[in-house]
Amino acid sequence: MDAMVAPVQAAVRVEGLSFAFGEGPARNEVLFDIGLELAPGQLAVLTGPSGSGKTTLLTLIGGLRTLQHGRVEVLGRDLTQLSPRALVAVRRNIGFIFQMHNLFDSLTAAENVRMALELGHRPPGELRGAAEEMLGRLGLKERVNYKPRALSGGQRQRVAIARALVNLPKLILADEPTAALDKEATNTVLGLLKQMTTENGSAVLMVTHDHRIIDLADRLIHMVDGRIASDVMLDNAGRIREFLKTVEPFSALNPADLSEIAETAELRHFEPGEVIIREGEEGEELFLIAEGEVEVLREDHEVARLGPAEFFGEAALISGEPRNATVVATEPVDALVVTKQELAEVMKHSSRFREQLRRFFVRRRAPRKRK
Ligand SMILES: Nc1ncnc2c1ncn2[C@@H]1O[C@H](COP(=O)(O)OP(=O)(O)OP(=O)(O)O)[C@@H](O)[C@H]1O
Ligand SMILES: [Mg+2]
Repeated sequence: MDAMVAPVQAAVRVEGLSFAFGEGPARNEVLFDIGLELAPGQLAVLTGPSGSGKTTLLTLIGGLRTLQHGRVEVLGRDLTQLSPRALVAVRRNIGFIFQMHNLFDSLTAAENVRMALELGHRPPGELRGAAEEMLGRLGLKERVNYKPRALSGGQRQRVAIARALVNLPKLILADEPTAALDKEATNTVLGLLKQMTTENGSAVLMVTHDHRIIDLADRLIHMVDGRIASDVMLDNAGRIREFLKTVEPFSALNPADLSEIAETAELRHFEPGEVIIREGEEGEELFLIAEGEVEVLREDHEVARLGPAEFFGEAALISGEPRNATVVATEPVDALVVTKQELAEVMKHSSRFREQLRRFFVRRRAPRKRK
């Protein structure tokens, strides 16, 4: 290769990739003509219904399956051209986070992580420190000397993640890495993956259903039936649009209305205990929860708790009456704030949205009438 003209190399380049399991009458085509390019430092999220081919695509990019049709280039190496030995060398530069983590039962957490390091290229003196540091970053500082049997499922998953990341790989392929994790561990892992992109220039391709990733992702790739159905870069407005799609009935809005809200809505933060709206006051805004939990109080009694992808504050905006409840953050809350004018504008365009929002409103009001 000519170093002087080397362009910024894609971390992954896939062209015309098709793949089938089985042969003859049992042949099942699962990927069709996939094209995809991933830049260094990019965090791309792969979504799609079960069976749409996400895991299969990841394993092909990772060189874990033999290619049939099309090209896959990883970190500048064309996988179709590689000898088995060269393929092993490429795989070593990939951090794999899959569901089956295969830790060694007889080794401690730190030893399991160090196993990966010994295959890498650091001086032996640094090995122990690097393994323990990575476990520490994943919240397992106190567990470095535990064996897998003595760890919870989520802790084991994090040991496997530490093992995948300890060599600071330039490509990370992750298949639902946070599926077994609680909220705090999920945030830690997602934050660490993001850090790998910003600090180490790693490209990350990750399958996840966790909507929290939308805040961190650069790109959202959606697969349906073995094909890439959409592939969008997420700027701020794009992130908000994707978030709105997870909130009923905002998901019913057409793309133009979604964009309009995304461009005008404001993300606001509330501390635990902070009153977001107060019963009896005039309502000017609608709140969609992106993160955290709130408590809904009527006459000082809790009537509901709401969390991510739920909203509140619509009642006063629809009815024109004062706020019928007080809403208090019980955790740090990030909420998207839509103004009354903006909501009115969108309701004017979309009768379906207006109808669905009213239905929410009526459903929420119902219990109160019964009293
Ligand atoms: N080892 C295999 N042998 C035969 N068929 C397979 C194999 N692995 C997957 N398939 C089939 O390939 C298709 C795609 O599977 P894949 O695991 O890639 O989907 P996925 O998008 O990862 O789904 P999920 O969200 O459920 O993990 C499915 O129809 C599945 O039945
Ligand atoms: Mg899968």
